[in-house]
Amino acid sequence: MKKITLLISVWLGAATFFSCEKKTEAIYKPQTSDKEVQDLLKNMSLEEKAGQMTQIDIRNLLTNGYGNTDEKLDSVRLKEAIQTYHVGSILNCIQAYTPEKWIELVSQIQNEAMHTTNKIPVLYGTDAVHGVGFMKGAVILPHNIGLAATRNNALVQQAGTLTAKEARAVGLTWNFAPVLDVGREPYWSRFEETFGEDVYITTQMGKAAITGMEGNDLTSVNAVASCMKHFLGYSAPKNGIDRTPSHIPEIILREYYLPPFKEAIQAGASTIMINSAEINGVPCHGNKWLLTDLLRTELGFKGLVCSDWEDVIRLHTWHKIAATPKDAVMIAVNAGVDMSMVPNDYSFPKYVIELVKEGKISMERIDEAVGRILTLKIKLGLLKKPLPSLEDIKVIGSDAHQQIALEAARESMTLLKNNNNCLPLTKGKKILLAGPAANSLSALHSAWTYTWQGASQAIYPASIRTVKQALEAMAGEGNVKTNASPVFTDAANYDVSFIKKNAAAADVIVLCIGEDAYAEQPGVIKDLNLPAAQKQLIVAAKKTGKPVVVCLLEGRPRLFPEEELLTDAVLMCYRPGNKGAQAIAEVLFGEVNPAGKLPFTYPRYNGDITTYDHKFKETEQQLAPGVSEFVAFNPQWAFGHGLSYTSFSYTNLKVDKKDFSRKDSVQVQVDVTNTGSRVGKEVIELYSRDHYASITPSERRLRKYTKIELKAGEKQTVVFTIKVSDLQFVNNDLATVTEAGTFDLIVGNLRTEIHLND
Ligand code: BGC
Repeated sequence: MKKITLLISVWLGAATFFSCEKKTEAIYKPQTSDKEVQDLLKNMSLEEKAGQMTQIDIRNLLTNGYGNTDEKLDSVRLKEAIQTYHVGSILNCIQAYTPEKWIELVSQIQNEAMHTTNKIPVLYGTDAVHGVGFMKGAVILPHNIGLAATRNNALVQQAGTLTAKEARAVGLTWNFAPVLDVGREPYWSRFEETFGEDVYITTQMGKAAITGMEGNDLTSVNAVASCMKHFLGYSAPKNGIDRTPSHIPEIILREYYLPPFKEAIQAGASTIMINSAEINGVPCHGNKWLLTDLLRTELGFKGLVCSDWEDVIRLHTWHKIAATPKDAVMIAVNAGVDMSMVPNDYSFPKYVIELVKEGKISMERIDEAVGRILTLKIKLGLLKKPLPSLEDIKVIGSDAHQQIALEAARESMTLLKNNNNCLPLTKGKKILLAGPAANSLSALHSAWTYTWQGASQAIYPASIRTVKQALEAMAGEGNVKTNASPVFTDAANYDVSFIKKNAAAADVIVLCIGEDAYAEQPGVIKDLNLPAAQKQLIVAAKKTGKPVVVCLLEGRPRLFPEEELLTDAVLMCYRPGNKGAQAIAEVLFGEVNPAGKLPFTYPRYNGDITTYDHKFKETEQQLAPGVSEFVAFNPQWAFGHGLSYTSFSYTNLKVDKKDFSRKDSVQVQVDVTNTGSRVGKEVIELYSRDHYASITPSERRLRKYTKIELKAGEKQTVVFTIKVSDLQFVNNDLATVTEAGTFDLIVGNLRTEIHLND
């Protein structure tokens, strides 16, 4: 016991150190005032309440458990979960089910719940992070990293609604999305799930995704509860390895990692999932400052806090801040976890009950947590309509949804290089196609597609095309020569002799390279360099003397600085989803004019991972002639880079006032002209640069973006409004401020200055 007290005080001490004293003063008041919730709480036993706080993986309820092959619920296991343990939530599946199967499973579960005393339906959670990945026939969109390249918030919102409709149709009412972790560490294996390195893009797109998923009415067949994740600092592990410690000073945490969550809460996100790992020595699941003081008191979040996978018990098994599994439950619940994704046993409710009886968790805290769970179920309309209806499933995979996925894939395509207008290809060109991603479905989709890892190609629907198939359809089969195997690791995909032998008959060599599918820890790498066997394909292709086009199918930047010099064109495709192959073929043949912009800085070297919004001094060495050389910031490709088959010019950057006060806003306008010969979309980005500030300012920060389409020769004036709050930063007192002074506003190659007066 002593040991436990000691551990807890160490933990509390760390939390206080990590936080700022003044922020821990306010005491959070439980919000369980709703009459319907109160009435239910009055009728519920402690056992039922502990059960509501418990989330179990469906695999435990299937015949033979994890070894299940017949996709059937075991009635004894189901009864045990719902009747004996009163489980409040179930998640996941072994692999994608058909919509009909989902309806059958969810209905059986809800029918079982209807036989309990209080008839509280089960909240079913799923990881539909780019479409409903665990459902056959669902539309799979690009991963967030590709969506971020579109700079099209409206498209992200549509993607959210599409996903909500397809999930809701089968009774999956809770989506563990969007990922709001800012992708500033490209080693991290979940980089592809992020909206990239910029906090503003992540914030805007996170809000769009949440609005798309939740709408105005959670009872609607078009809506599900969203889940912001993973709170907080998950995406910046110190060593790049998934679920390992981050060391993030609070000033940085507040500047770069907190804003997407803050704004998502204001946008009405219903739930939040906690970071599995630790920040500054404090595991997030045991960090009361994070989960209660910051999240509840400061940010005003009223919704449901759920743990990530097994993370309550891991306070004991991994993090060692709890001496026993029971202490882990006590610490997590008292810190602010409302629901535990246990997910493979019933230890959690058992410990909750014991801890309440021992007075180590208060009944008030339990009612608060359960009140939030019930509130969400009521808001979702589950108490009135617990069962999904077969008639709703017609939306799944509809033409309208396919069209959104296609548009998203098209808009994500980012043309990084196009020497001598090597692209677009003209019809009739003979293509020699090679590389491990050329005939792979999994490389187009990656994580959370039909399975957790997305790597089981056998269960991908036959209708989805690989790049090979899409190019054959576009160019004519006789015009595409390839030996590409669907299996990423097959030796045929790395056979340079095939390239040598067949190049003479080809007009162009297209290499599809990058990464196979992965999710979470199986995606951990120690070197960002592309594997040597893939680099060799570029070398071999170059030796033939034919133009070399590289298509990158990858979830994070994989490096090839020497071999990049041997290429003529490079198209970044990210993880473009079901319609990705078609979008790639359309861009290669010029049917679609690429307009994607990199949402991260593509590093040139492993040793220089620097984001675009770096500090001035972060990118150069002191000049010491004869001793060290000047090394300027020199990434492979810059944040925001992306070419088009047409060209755009920027002129007349103007502001309506040079001097402004805290009450004012500034209108910024710029003329954008399509100076090329074909229609094209252009993303216009407005950056600011603070000349002098009380802490070192960033070299620049993205403050606004928009996207327009212009015909050849067409000109449009684009207007942005800059408010004082758009220029703010977190100062050394951890306050968010805009300091008076001069700012550059930068659009394209133009710059102007504005002055904020006090
Ligand atoms: C991931 C979460 C996910 C959960 C449920 C965890 O391993 O970190 O992002 O929502 O599993 O599948």
